[in-house]
Amino acid sequence: MSGLEHGGRLNQAVRQWGIPRSDWLDLSTGISPYGYPIPAIPDAVWQRLPEEDDGLDAVARDWLKLPVDTGCLPVAGSQPALQTLPALRRPCRVGVVAPAYAEHARAWRQAGHDVVPLAATAVAGTLPRLDVLVCVNPNNPSGALLPAETLRGWHQQLAGRGGWLVVDEAFLDASNGTSLAAQAHQTGLIVLRSLGKFFGLAGLRAGLMVAEPALCSAMQAALGPWAMSHPARYVMAQALQDRAWQQQQRQRLREDRKRLDGVLSAAGLSPQGDSDLFAWCPDDQAQGRFEALARQGVLVRYFTEPAALRFGLAGSEVQWDRLRSALSVSA
Ligand SMILES: Cc1ncc(COP(=O)(O)O)c(C=O)c1O
Repeated sequence: MSGLEHGGRLNQAVRQWGIPRSDWLDLSTGISPYGYPIPAIPDAVWQRLPEEDDGLDAVARDWLKLPVDTGCLPVAGSQPALQTLPALRRPCRVGVVAPAYAEHARAWRQAGHDVVPLAATAVAGTLPRLDVLVCVNPNNPSGALLPAETLRGWHQQLAGRGGWLVVDEAFLDASNGTSLAAQAHQTGLIVLRSLGKFFGLAGLRAGLMVAEPALCSAMQAALGPWAMSHPARYVMAQALQDRAWQQQQRQRLREDRKRLDGVLSAAGLSPQGDSDLFAWCPDDQAQGRFEALARQGVLVRYFTEPAALRFGLAGSEVQWDRLRSALSVSA
Protein backbone atom coordinates (compact mmCIF):
# COMPACT_ATOMS: atom_id res chain seq x y z
CA MET A 1 0.00 0.00 0.00
CA SER A 2 1.60 3.27 -1.01
CA GLY A 3 0.42 6.85 -1.14
CA LEU A 4 -0.86 8.31 -4.40
CA GLU A 5 1.88 9.81 -6.50
CA HIS A 6 0.18 13.21 -6.80
CA GLY A 7 -2.61 14.73 -4.80
CA GLY A 8 -6.07 15.18 -6.30
CA ARG A 9 -6.33 11.77 -7.98
CA LEU A 10 -9.89 11.25 -6.88
CA ASN A 11 -10.83 8.75 -9.59
CA GLN A 12 -8.03 6.49 -8.40
CA ALA A 13 -9.24 6.81 -4.79
CA VAL A 14 -12.78 5.90 -5.93
CA ARG A 15 -11.47 2.67 -7.50
CA GLN A 16 -9.11 1.86 -4.65
CA TRP A 17 -11.51 2.41 -1.75
CA GLY A 18 -14.87 1.73 -3.43
CA ILE A 19 -16.35 5.04 -2.26
CA PRO A 20 -18.32 7.11 -4.83
CA ARG A 21 -16.59 10.26 -6.06
CA SER A 22 -19.24 12.59 -4.66
CA ASP A 23 -18.70 11.19 -1.13
CA TRP A 24 -15.02 12.13 -0.90
CA LEU A 25 -13.52 15.02 0.98
CA ASP A 26 -10.34 15.63 -0.99
CA LEU A 27 -7.63 17.25 1.14
CA SER A 28 -4.83 15.60 -0.82
CA THR A 29 -3.70 18.74 -2.65
CA GLY A 30 -2.33 22.14 -1.66
CA ILE A 31 -4.84 23.88 -3.94
CA SER A 32 -6.91 26.64 -2.36
CA PRO A 33 -10.52 25.56 -1.71
CA TYR A 34 -11.52 29.06 -2.89
CA GLY A 35 -10.92 29.48 -6.62
CA TYR A 36 -10.61 32.86 -8.29
CA PRO A 37 -14.10 33.61 -9.70
CA ILE A 38 -13.87 33.05 -13.45
CA PRO A 39 -15.04 36.12 -15.39
CA ALA A 40 -17.28 35.86 -18.46
CA ILE A 41 -14.99 34.96 -21.34
CA PRO A 42 -15.70 36.74 -24.65
CA ASP A 43 -16.46 34.44 -27.62
CA ALA A 44 -13.46 35.82 -29.51
CA VAL A 45 -11.16 34.54 -26.74
CA TRP A 46 -12.41 31.01 -27.38
CA GLN A 47 -12.43 31.37 -31.14
CA ARG A 48 -9.17 33.15 -31.88
CA LEU A 49 -5.60 32.06 -31.33
CA PRO A 50 -3.86 33.87 -28.47
CA GLU A 51 -1.54 36.76 -29.40
CA GLU A 52 1.56 37.47 -27.35
CA ASP A 53 0.95 41.22 -27.27
CA ASP A 54 -2.46 40.89 -25.61
CA GLY A 55 -1.34 42.83 -22.51
CA LEU A 56 -0.68 39.82 -20.26
CA ASP A 57 3.05 40.46 -20.32
CA ALA A 58 2.66 43.94 -18.77
CA VAL A 59 0.16 42.64 -16.19
CA ALA A 60 2.49 39.83 -15.09
CA ARG A 61 5.51 42.16 -14.91
CA ASP A 62 3.55 44.63 -12.84
CA TRP A 63 2.32 41.86 -10.50
CA LEU A 64 5.86 40.59 -9.86
CA LYS A 65 7.45 44.08 -9.99
CA LEU A 66 9.98 42.92 -12.57
CA PRO A 67 12.78 45.15 -13.88
CA VAL A 68 12.42 45.72 -17.66
CA ASP A 69 15.39 43.55 -18.55
CA THR A 70 13.76 40.43 -17.05
CA GLY A 71 12.31 37.67 -19.22
CA CYS A 72 8.75 36.71 -18.27
CA LEU A 73 7.01 33.89 -20.10
CA PRO A 74 3.39 32.86 -19.46
CA VAL A 75 3.21 29.05 -19.51
CA ALA A 76 0.45 26.45 -19.25
CA GLY A 77 1.23 25.83 -15.57
CA SER A 78 4.70 25.63 -14.07
CA GLN A 79 4.79 21.91 -14.90
CA PRO A 80 5.63 22.22 -18.62
CA ALA A 81 8.34 24.77 -17.77
CA LEU A 82 9.99 22.64 -15.08
CA GLN A 83 9.71 19.61 -17.34
CA THR A 84 11.35 21.36 -20.31
CA LEU A 85 14.06 23.26 -18.42
CA PRO A 86 16.45 20.26 -18.21
CA ALA A 87 16.56 20.07 -22.02
CA LEU A 88 17.98 23.61 -22.12
CA ARG A 89 21.29 22.48 -20.55
CA ARG A 90 23.91 19.85 -21.34
CA PRO A 91 23.86 16.90 -18.91
CA CYS A 92 25.29 18.06 -15.59
CA ARG A 93 25.06 17.55 -11.83
CA VAL A 94 21.80 18.73 -10.33
CA GLY A 95 20.90 19.01 -6.65
CA VAL A 96 17.26 18.96 -5.62
CA VAL A 97 16.42 20.05 -2.07
CA ALA A 98 14.40 17.08 -0.81
CA PRO A 99 11.85 15.86 -0.02
CA ALA A 100 10.30 17.91 -2.82
CA TYR A 101 7.68 17.85 -5.55
CA ALA A 102 8.93 14.74 -7.33
CA GLU A 103 8.54 16.08 -10.88
CA HIS A 104 11.72 18.14 -10.65
CA ALA A 105 14.07 15.22 -9.98
CA ARG A 106 12.21 13.06 -12.50
CA ALA A 107 12.47 15.68 -15.27
CA TRP A 108 16.21 16.30 -14.78
CA ARG A 109 16.92 12.56 -14.58
CA GLN A 110 14.90 11.85 -17.71
CA ALA A 111 16.92 14.44 -19.62
CA GLY A 112 20.14 12.61 -18.70
CA HIS A 113 21.36 14.74 -15.79
CA ASP A 114 22.93 13.33 -12.65
CA VAL A 115 20.45 14.15 -9.87
CA VAL A 116 21.41 14.40 -6.19
CA PRO A 117 18.57 14.75 -3.67
CA LEU A 118 19.79 16.68 -0.62
CA ALA A 119 18.52 18.09 2.62
CA ALA A 120 18.56 21.89 2.82
CA THR A 121 21.21 21.59 5.54
CA ALA A 122 23.51 19.73 3.12
CA VAL A 123 23.36 22.31 0.32
CA ALA A 124 26.22 24.53 1.52
CA GLY A 125 28.64 21.58 1.62
CA THR A 126 27.52 20.11 -1.72
CA LEU A 127 27.10 23.28 -3.76
CA PRO A 128 30.73 23.39 -5.02
CA ARG A 129 30.07 20.07 -6.79
CA LEU A 130 26.72 21.09 -8.34
CA ASP A 131 25.91 22.85 -11.61
CA VAL A 132 22.22 23.34 -10.93
CA LEU A 133 20.26 23.53 -7.68
CA VAL A 134 16.46 23.20 -7.58
CA CYS A 135 14.55 24.51 -4.54
CA VAL A 136 10.81 24.57 -4.00
CA ASN A 137 10.10 27.60 -1.79
CA PRO A 138 8.13 27.14 0.34
CA ASN A 139 8.73 23.46 -0.07
CA ASN A 140 6.07 20.99 -1.08
CA PRO A 141 5.42 18.74 0.84
CA SER A 142 7.22 19.95 3.99
CA GLY A 143 6.20 23.62 3.73
CA ALA A 144 9.73 24.63 4.82
CA LEU A 145 10.66 28.14 3.79
CA LEU A 146 14.19 29.08 2.74
CA PRO A 147 15.25 32.68 3.46
CA ALA A 148 15.70 34.79 0.31
CA GLU A 149 19.20 35.72 1.54
CA THR A 150 20.24 32.06 1.58
CA LEU A 151 18.89 31.51 -1.93
CA ARG A 152 20.66 34.62 -3.21
CA GLY A 153 23.93 33.36 -1.76
CA TRP A 154 23.49 29.98 -3.46
CA HIS A 155 22.65 31.71 -6.73
CA GLN A 156 25.80 33.85 -6.56
CA GLN A 157 27.96 30.76 -6.11
CA LEU A 158 26.30 28.83 -8.93
CA ALA A 159 26.09 31.72 -11.40
CA GLY A 160 29.78 32.51 -10.86
CA ARG A 161 30.62 29.30 -12.73
CA GLY A 162 27.74 29.14 -15.26
CA GLY A 163 25.36 27.28 -12.95
CA TRP A 164 21.63 27.76 -12.35
CA LEU A 165 19.46 28.18 -9.30
CA VAL A 166 15.86 27.14 -10.05
CA VAL A 167 13.34 28.39 -7.48
CA ASP A 168 9.86 26.90 -7.73
CA GLU A 169 7.58 29.45 -6.07
CA ALA A 170 4.32 27.59 -6.78
CA PHE A 171 3.21 28.02 -3.14
CA LEU A 172 4.84 31.35 -2.34
CA ASP A 173 1.75 33.58 -2.58
CA ALA A 174 0.21 31.92 0.48
CA SER A 175 3.27 32.24 2.74
CA ASN A 176 5.54 34.79 4.39
CA GLY A 177 8.26 34.02 1.88
CA THR A 178 10.01 36.58 -0.31
CA SER A 179 9.95 36.04 -4.06
CA LEU A 180 13.20 36.08 -6.03
CA ALA A 181 11.36 36.95 -9.25
CA ALA A 182 12.45 40.60 -9.21
CA GLN A 183 16.11 39.45 -9.28
CA ALA A 184 15.63 36.89 -12.04
CA HIS A 185 17.11 39.19 -14.72
CA GLN A 186 20.42 37.96 -13.26
CA THR A 187 22.08 35.20 -15.22
CA GLY A 188 21.40 31.74 -13.85
CA LEU A 189 18.36 32.52 -11.70
CA ILE A 190 15.10 30.93 -12.83
CA VAL A 191 11.83 31.46 -10.93
CA LEU A 192 8.66 29.47 -11.60
CA ARG A 193 5.19 30.65 -10.56
CA SER A 194 1.83 28.91 -10.68
CA LEU A 195 -1.79 30.06 -10.67
CA GLY A 196 -2.86 26.60 -9.57
CA LYS A 197 -2.42 26.88 -5.81
CA PHE A 198 -3.08 30.34 -4.29
CA PHE A 199 -5.57 31.29 -7.00
CA GLY A 200 -7.19 27.84 -6.84
CA LEU A 201 -7.03 27.54 -10.63
CA ALA A 202 -5.13 24.26 -11.08
CA GLY A 203 -7.41 23.21 -13.94
CA LEU A 204 -6.78 26.43 -15.87
CA ARG A 205 -3.13 25.49 -16.46
CA ALA A 206 -1.45 28.85 -16.00
CA GLY A 207 1.92 29.92 -14.65
CA LEU A 208 5.01 31.98 -15.37
CA MET A 209 8.67 31.42 -15.96
CA VAL A 210 10.83 34.39 -14.96
CA ALA A 211 14.51 34.41 -15.97
CA GLU A 212 17.00 36.03 -18.32
CA PRO A 213 15.26 37.00 -21.58
CA ALA A 214 17.44 34.59 -23.62
CA LEU A 215 16.45 31.63 -21.44
CA CYS A 216 12.76 32.54 -21.62
CA SER A 217 13.08 32.73 -25.43
CA ALA A 218 14.71 29.28 -25.47
CA MET A 219 11.86 27.93 -23.33
CA GLN A 220 9.28 29.55 -25.59
CA ALA A 221 10.90 27.98 -28.65
CA ALA A 222 10.96 24.57 -26.94
CA LEU A 223 7.29 24.77 -25.92
CA GLY A 224 6.18 25.99 -29.34
CA PRO A 225 3.47 28.43 -30.37
CA TRP A 226 0.14 28.80 -28.47
CA ALA A 227 1.38 26.60 -25.63
CA MET A 228 -1.00 28.41 -23.31
CA SER A 229 -4.66 28.69 -24.30
CA HIS A 230 -6.30 32.02 -25.05
CA PRO A 231 -8.93 31.57 -22.26
CA ALA A 232 -6.15 30.77 -19.78
CA ARG A 233 -4.27 33.96 -20.73
CA TYR A 234 -7.49 35.97 -20.42
CA VAL A 235 -8.38 34.64 -16.95
CA MET A 236 -4.78 34.91 -15.76
CA ALA A 237 -4.63 38.62 -16.66
CA GLN A 238 -7.83 39.28 -14.69
CA ALA A 239 -6.67 37.28 -11.66
CA LEU A 240 -3.25 38.94 -11.48
CA GLN A 241 -4.80 42.43 -11.63
CA ASP A 242 -7.39 41.74 -8.94
CA ARG A 243 -5.38 42.84 -5.88
CA ALA A 244 -8.46 43.17 -3.66
CA TRP A 245 -9.32 39.51 -4.22
CA GLN A 246 -5.70 38.51 -3.62
CA GLN A 247 -5.68 40.39 -0.31
CA GLN A 248 -8.91 38.71 0.82
CA GLN A 249 -7.57 35.33 -0.29
CA ARG A 250 -4.34 35.79 1.66
CA GLN A 251 -6.26 36.60 4.82
CA ARG A 252 -8.72 33.74 4.67
CA LEU A 253 -6.05 31.19 3.81
CA ARG A 254 -4.01 32.36 6.81
CA GLU A 255 -7.03 31.98 9.10
CA ASP A 256 -7.85 28.58 7.65
CA ARG A 257 -4.31 27.36 8.14
CA LYS A 258 -4.48 28.32 11.82
CA ARG A 259 -7.74 26.45 12.06
CA LEU A 260 -6.23 23.40 10.36
CA ASP A 261 -3.34 23.42 12.84
CA GLY A 262 -5.86 23.47 15.70
CA VAL A 263 -7.83 20.52 14.31
CA LEU A 264 -4.69 18.47 13.63
CA SER A 265 -3.10 19.25 17.00
CA ALA A 266 -6.30 18.23 18.77
CA ALA A 267 -6.01 14.87 16.99
CA GLY A 268 -2.48 14.36 18.33
CA LEU A 269 -0.62 15.42 15.17
CA SER A 270 2.17 18.01 15.01
CA PRO A 271 1.46 20.24 12.01
CA GLN A 272 4.47 22.01 10.50
CA GLY A 273 5.34 24.15 7.51
CA ASP A 274 5.10 27.75 6.35
CA SER A 275 2.56 27.38 3.56
CA ASP A 276 -0.95 28.50 4.42
CA LEU A 277 -2.30 26.01 1.88
CA PHE A 278 -1.37 22.78 3.63
CA ALA A 279 0.08 21.31 6.82
CA TRP A 280 2.87 18.74 6.95
CA CYS A 281 2.64 16.19 9.74
CA PRO A 282 5.50 13.77 10.31
CA ASP A 283 3.83 10.74 11.93
CA ASP A 284 5.10 7.23 12.68
CA GLN A 285 1.50 6.03 12.29
CA ALA A 286 1.06 7.82 8.95
CA GLN A 287 0.09 4.76 6.95
CA GLY A 288 -2.55 3.57 9.42
CA ARG A 289 -3.97 7.05 9.76
CA PHE A 290 -4.02 7.55 5.98
CA GLU A 291 -5.93 4.32 5.50
CA ALA A 292 -8.37 5.02 8.36
CA LEU A 293 -9.12 8.45 6.86
CA ALA A 294 -9.51 6.99 3.36
CA ARG A 295 -11.97 4.36 4.63
CA GLN A 296 -14.08 7.31 5.81
CA GLY A 297 -13.79 9.06 2.45
CA VAL A 298 -11.21 11.65 3.52
CA LEU A 299 -8.27 11.73 1.13
CA VAL A 300 -4.94 13.18 2.28
CA ARG A 301 -1.39 12.73 0.96
CA TYR A 302 0.65 9.98 2.53
CA PHE A 303 4.46 10.00 2.30
CA THR A 304 6.70 7.10 3.25
CA GLU A 305 10.09 8.77 3.57
CA PRO A 306 9.84 10.31 6.01
CA ALA A 307 6.52 8.85 7.22
CA ALA A 308 4.18 11.81 7.08
CA LEU A 309 0.77 13.10 6.05
CA ARG A 310 -0.01 16.33 4.23
CA PHE A 311 -3.41 17.93 4.78
CA GLY A 312 -4.94 20.57 2.49
CA LEU A 313 -7.55 23.06 3.70
CA ALA A 314 -11.21 22.21 4.16
CA GLY A 315 -13.53 24.54 2.24
CA SER A 316 -16.73 24.66 4.35
CA GLU A 317 -18.05 24.11 7.87
CA VAL A 318 -19.38 20.71 6.82
CA GLN A 319 -15.93 19.73 5.58
CA TRP A 320 -14.19 20.94 8.75
CA ASP A 321 -16.64 18.87 10.85
CA ARG A 322 -16.03 15.89 8.65
CA LEU A 323 -12.26 16.16 8.98
CA ARG A 324 -12.52 16.55 12.75
CA SER A 325 -14.70 13.50 13.19
CA ALA A 326 -12.70 11.36 10.73
CA LEU A 327 -9.50 12.22 12.63
CA SER A 328 -11.07 11.17 15.91
CA VAL A 329 -11.81 7.74 14.45
CA SER A 330 -8.33 7.41 12.93
CA ALA A 331 -6.44 8.46 16.08
C1 LIG B 1 5.85 22.50 -5.99
C2 LIG B 1 5.08 22.41 -7.25
N1 LIG B 1 5.54 23.01 -8.35
C3 LIG B 1 4.89 22.96 -9.51
C4 LIG B 1 3.70 22.25 -9.62
C5 LIG B 1 3.01 22.23 -10.95
O1 LIG B 1 1.83 22.99 -10.86
P1 LIG B 1 1.21 23.74 -12.09
O2 LIG B 1 1.69 23.08 -13.33
O3 LIG B 1 -0.25 23.62 -11.92
O4 LIG B 1 1.68 25.17 -12.00
C6 LIG B 1 3.19 21.58 -8.52
C7 LIG B 1 1.94 20.81 -8.61
O5 LIG B 1 1.45 20.22 -7.68
C8 LIG B 1 3.89 21.67 -7.29
O6 LIG B 1 3.44 21.06 -6.19
